Amino acid sequence: MQIVRSKEELRDILAQWRDQDEHVALVPTMGNLHQGHVSLVELAREHAERVVVSVYVNPTQFGPGEDFADYPRTLERDTRRLKQVGADLLFVPTDDTVYPFGHDCATVVSVPGLTENFCGAVRPGHFDGVTTVVARLFALVQPEVAVFGQKDFQQQLVIRYMTEDLSLPIRIITASTVREPDGLAMSSRNAYLSEDERAVAPRLSEVLTSIGQALQDGKQDFAALEADGRDALESSGFRLDYLEIRRAENLAPPDRDCDELVVLAAVHLGKARLIDNVVVTV
Ligand code: PAF
Repeated sequence: MQIVRSKEELRDILAQWRDQDEHVALVPTMGNLHQGHVSLVELAREHAERVVVSVYVNPTQFGPGEDFADYPRTLERDTRRLKQVGADLLFVPTDDTVYPFGHDCATVVSVPGLTENFCGAVRPGHFDGVTTVVARLFALVQPEVAVFGQKDFQQQLVIRYMTEDLSLPIRIITASTVREPDGLAMSSRNAYLSEDERAVAPRLSEVLTSIGQALQDGKQDFAALEADGRDALESSGFRLDYLEIRRAENLAPPDRDCDELVVLAAVHLGKARLIDNVVVTV
């Protein structure tokens, strides 16, 4: 596996691959890789001859008081893991490579509408940071395919929208959430949970799954299902940012005729902010 930090080194390698008619799949990450990321790399491998994984803790998607400084940076371990899983290239760009004019003078890519609610409402500016860095990574790597996890459900929808709206020739693939045996969605932020909090954390996926089951069983009183779910989470000790049932295609409020719904939630447990979702066909 090759490891590169600069645009020039990256471009040289990409040019060699293109000469050989090889396609590129990109898996953008912020590092601290776990089995969920491994599954993204494996899925990427199914769609292109070459897999590039980027590791960059993007400052512009963290708000003031969020965990940018504490975000786990584990490049040595990540490198070993990526070698094992067979990534072709690890791209670890410097700040200057991603933001040549600095963060404050950076061109911002902003997706309206879809980013107004849920994580966008409780983390103002977060999605502008995400779309801005993903657009930059797309421009640097120029992949044919890019893979994102379903756990960040709103993020993958926002990136799909951006890609289509800017006519970027990149196919966005969403990989299923990888879970611990007790159902907790894998996340770098699970490391912030104490032992007691870790024991409570799977309750999040249990509550979402039971709402998903109720929807599949034909229940359509969305407000009551949401209210019961919020009560169940709060009485388990979570502080809620949101729990909502929405249309999976665009996060609009559901009506009785739509066929794909997503139950999505963000909660706080101790120092950790956890997000999860369940998609159901009804
Ligand atoms: O999901 C993430 O890890 C990040 O938001 C991403 C897509 C790598 C952009 O920094």
